Amino acid sequence: MSGNIHSVLQETRTFPPAADFVRQANISGDEQYQKLWQRAKDDPAGFWGELAKEHLVWSKPFDKALEGTMPETKWFTGGKLNASVNCVDKHLTTWRKNKAAIIWEGEPGDTRVLTYQDLHREVCQFANVLKKLGVKTGDRVTLYMPMIPELAIAMLACARLGATHSIIFGGFSADAVSDRNNDAKAKVVVTADGGWRRGKEVPLKKAVDDSLAKSPTVEKVVVVRRTGSDVSMVPDRDYWWHDLMKDASSECDPVEVDSEHPLYILYTSGSTGKPKGVLHTTAGYLLGTQMTSKWVFDLKDEDTYWCTADIGWVTGHSYIVYGPLQNGATAIMYEGAPNWPDEGRFWEIIEKYKVSIFYTAPTAIRAFIKWGDHWPNKFDLSSLRLLGSVGEPINPEAWMWYHKVIGAERCPIVDTWWQTETGAIMISPLPGVTATKPGSCTKPLPGIVPDIVNEKGESLGPNQGGLLVMRQPWPSMLRTLYGDHARFKETYFGKLQGLYFAGDGARKDEDGYIWVMGRVDDVLNVAGHRLSTMEVESALVSHPKVAEAAVVGFPHDIKGEGICCFVTLKQGEGNDALKAELTAHVRKQIGALATPDSIRFAAAVPKTRSGKIMRRLLRDIAAGKEQVGDTTTLEDYAVLAKLRDTEE
Ligand code: WT7
Repeated sequence: MSGNIHSVLQETRTFPPAADFVRQANISGDEQYQKLWQRAKDDPAGFWGELAKEHLVWSKPFDKALEGTMPETKWFTGGKLNASVNCVDKHLTTWRKNKAAIIWEGEPGDTRVLTYQDLHREVCQFANVLKKLGVKTGDRVTLYMPMIPELAIAMLACARLGATHSIIFGGFSADAVSDRNNDAKAKVVVTADGGWRRGKEVPLKKAVDDSLAKSPTVEKVVVVRRTGSDVSMVPDRDYWWHDLMKDASSECDPVEVDSEHPLYILYTSGSTGKPKGVLHTTAGYLLGTQMTSKWVFDLKDEDTYWCTADIGWVTGHSYIVYGPLQNGATAIMYEGAPNWPDEGRFWEIIEKYKVSIFYTAPTAIRAFIKWGDHWPNKFDLSSLRLLGSVGEPINPEAWMWYHKVIGAERCPIVDTWWQTETGAIMISPLPGVTATKPGSCTKPLPGIVPDIVNEKGESLGPNQGGLLVMRQPWPSMLRTLYGDHARFKETYFGKLQGLYFAGDGARKDEDGYIWVMGRVDDVLNVAGHRLSTMEVESALVSHPKVAEAAVVGFPHDIKGEGICCFVTLKQGEGNDALKAELTAHVRKQIGALATPDSIRFAAAVPKTRSGKIMRRLLRDIAAGKEQVGDTTTLEDYAVLAKLRDTEE
């Protein structure tokens, strides 16, 4: 980890918010922002406490807004509430009762609309189903599902009972599912026969069957019929969703839980060891997602809001389900791929539903650019009023394209920096406040106090690259890594005393704008998703022919970072057939999202004298900045390494 990072990006264009946007915005003008930000910094407990009183529905009011210091902070202690009440029930006594909560579009073109009343009925019914299957307050439930309304229903049903959901993205393999089932000690798995992706079926139930051979804690499986294909159903273990729902009552009293009761676990990659079970608790997470949805997306009742993320990632948790629903918003949920049946699908959906707020990822934007302007240009996108980006730094070219071709130079762009661990958006433009600069996530939201520091935790000056940290706690931050509190403290608070360390490098420019430069640890950001080099390396080494592996990222036009694997064999030589075999092996171990982009056989992996893989050298080779032969030997590396500075 290096404290001083050299930054090469120079961007001078700025885009101030339009006057008519400012006039109607939920936070408008720099003065209002400055006041809020300063107030929150000086008195975080007072600031968040007032918001929590006003914007959360409590069954018992809290005593104290904030207790303790990082990493052991507790928010809204003494209070009791229920997340499903805050997302659904609270709207039933208002005109929003019959408002669309979720407008769902399946990949094949089928649709479903759930009003808040519909959602309430189904959430209660499914909560009763879970109860009947033995789920109790505090139990963990795995959700391994396609992007169908039943996923949101299952999340809220867990929350209604005070059970903790653990969602596993449908692109993960059976092995990844059993690892997570075991770590969370999940009692029930909810899945579907399959889901649709690019016209093909993702066989989810099959993966669950394979995972259950290695998941001893799982007692019951509920299966949604989505694709209608044949799946095996084990008697007394597997049940169809529709069978169980038929007899379930639509009344289910919500379980009042403590503010700090676990709401969900979401696994994310770290630089060492197995995936980390990031734990979010109830009240703070709800407040963070609710307020940031209002502030950053300027969410209004009239909006049709669409976040294209999969609910298997934190973006979907926070900004398809918990944030928008608490705000009584109408959210679009789309099951499938952006290029199915053709590359116009997203723009067709925007035109069809008159989407006003659109939130997607830079990797998707780069794919849109590649597919050509004629796709979006075929559709009427004039309903759009705000655009968002998340997952990785957005390159200025992609930002400008988004601004011109999708936003017609009219829509503000919010480039939102946050993490699975932060629960909610931390650094982002406010659309009625901030003059944006392409490529910068700009400034911290009220209540967020970031800094750029060196390895000693000392603040750095303007344009000095360093480590991105948080100096103050915030309500939606993770509370622990499930079952491993020591790792939680070490990972996020162990390097810099008293500061939350995000793992990103960044700089602040002369105007105080933050420019995130990417991860400084051994974590790849592939298509906006975190993958640890270590996990891919151990997947490779688990193949019988592999002796050693080193995995690095390299610049990739669409995915941001591609996965390059240097592999040393136990014996013999590598060939294309073995490359294909290793690729399939990694996919089986982790899932399709970890598919290597390039595999290079090497006679040895270069290491420093202390035994660390020389990643910087390998990264340069992977990026084509250093040329080596087909089969690289240690001697080749030694020559290269000598030509450059030291690696450590
Ligand atoms: C990492 C978090 C937040 C939901 C999706 C990813 C990178 C995220 C930005 C942004 C620059 C960004 C960071 C961060 N990242 N958003 N707007 N600009 N970098 O969640 O999988 O927990 O990954 O994604 O490196 O640490 P995640």
